[in-house]
Amino acid sequence: MAFEELDVQLVQRALAGCTIGRRILYHGQVGSTMDEARLLAEGGEPEGTVVIAEEQTAGRGRFNRAWVSPPGENLAFSVVLRPAQAQLRYVNMAATLAVAGAVEALTGLQPAIKWPNDVRLGGKKVSGILIETSMVEAGLRYAVLGIGLNVNMDPSRFPEIADLATSLLRETGRKADRTRVLQEVLVRLDDLYQAVRNGGSLVSRWASMLETLGKVVQVRWRDQVLEGRATGVDDEGNLLLRQPDGSTIPVVAGEVTLQSSRG
Ligand code: BTN
Repeated sequence: MAFEELDVQLVQRALAGCTIGRRILYHGQVGSTMDEARLLAEGGEPEGTVVIAEEQTAGRGRFNRAWVSPPGENLAFSVVLRPAQAQLRYVNMAATLAVAGAVEALTGLQPAIKWPNDVRLGGKKVSGILIETSMVEAGLRYAVLGIGLNVNMDPSRFPEIADLATSLLRETGRKADRTRVLQEVLVRLDDLYQAVRNGGSLVSRWASMLETLGKVVQVRWRDQVLEGRATGVDDEGNLLLRQPDGSTIPVVAGEVTLQSSRG
């Protein structure tokens, strides 16, 4: 191995008594940790299990985009969760806040969130979050939460993301201890996820970090592109978009393209 492997035992120790990380499955290489976690969930895996890989050969992001996961440089993991269906919308906020909190604690830098769940540093994406679910008529069977965090990667090596992505290394100029970063994220995630499970709302904390608010944005939603000024979010985290005719529409989820940063 040309890189220092993650120390899963240390991570497990930091998570003693937590739901998240009750079990951690470590892989050198997988297609996608989302698929590994989904298989486990289908087999009845209890919530909290984390599947982590040093390398993904078919890592994926939202809208089925590829997610760059070179060996031993970043963090790429998925977590099996079984929240109530109504709690699902807060799971992405828990994940985003966990990553942002860990990044701030470890680097001293102030991350921002691009609605709904990209964590950004210096205007570039350092982390992405993906939630995939299995639903039946009776409701949610399980959710798989996937987190990718660029730690020691040099994004300029990957032309497809060079202009859009950053990493902790890129922002701080020094390599980070990935085991430590993973601990920080998962301990925070456990805490925030417990809050969600206990009926708490994370909307105001999450909304206070949204860099999207006040800006004119384009949102890809289903087959449409909606444009307007993002004036706020509602209680469920939907983006409130003021249209040129003065009306406001709530947008459930989509890709926000910042069209202008004026006003
Ligand atoms: C996005 O911003 O589009 C979401 C990116 C999610 C990437 C993570 S890496 C771990 C997990 N496995 C995957 O294949 N994707 C998620």
